[in-house]
Amino acid sequence: MISPSSFLSLFIFSSLFISIHAKTLIHSTCEICSEQDPFVTFRFCTTSLQAASGSRHADIKELGKISIKLTYDNMTDTRSYIKKLLKNDIEKLSSYLKLRLDDCLDLYKDSISDIKDAMRYYSSKRYYEASLHLSSIMDATTTCDDGFKEKRLGISLLTKRNNATFELAAIGLSIVRILQIDNN
Ligand SMILES: *[C@@H]1O[C@H](CO)[C@@H](O)[C@H](O)[C@H]1NC(C)=O
Ligand SMILES: *[C@@H]1O[C@H](CO)[C@@H](O)[C@H](O)[C@H]1NC(C)=O
Repeated sequence: MISPSSFLSLFIFSSLFISIHAKTLIHSTCEICSEQDPFVTFRFCTTSLQAASGSRHADIKELGKISIKLTYDNMTDTRSYIKKLLKNDIEKLSSYLKLRLDDCLDLYKDSISDIKDAMRYYSSKRYYEASLHLSSIMDATTTCDDGFKEKRLGISLLTKRNNATFELAAIGLSIVRILQIDNN
């Protein structure tokens, strides 16, 4: 769904884009992303994108690809991390935590196939399909994290990682939305 405010941001975005004194593209893109999704912080967005190789001279389409690639890297890293916890720390884990980690491992496995699909659709400019897969990744990280909250453990072992994946996917989704409007 496109809210009036995202039309406004698109307008601002386009104006910035053609302005000679435009801020960097990363800066203006992250402004829109953090506006579209309150869970994405401007700082997280700029830090993540600036750290990615090739982002400095990237256009908006390339920034989207970079975000999706960052999401993918983050997810495969978290999948390995969960596997390692289950393998090395199995004796220290309560059966409850073990179950939660097993669930999260399944969620991450499925989501890795989602991110691959998102990448494929993105490259062929099928933005609607790409957006569906990105959204389902965001849902999966939330489901993984919520699992730990059922038993007031206070913290989830994966919150920081779930948050990073969620935010990176949300940045990708915001860029897809910008391109979708551009496409029509
Ligand atoms: C995951 O994303 C966060 C935020 O951008 C970053 O700090 C971290 O290094 C990433 N991890 C991997 C393995 O890409
Ligand atoms: C994860 O995200 C939630 C929601 O934005 C936030 O309240 C929480 O502080 C974050 N936790 C970590 C460890 O980043």
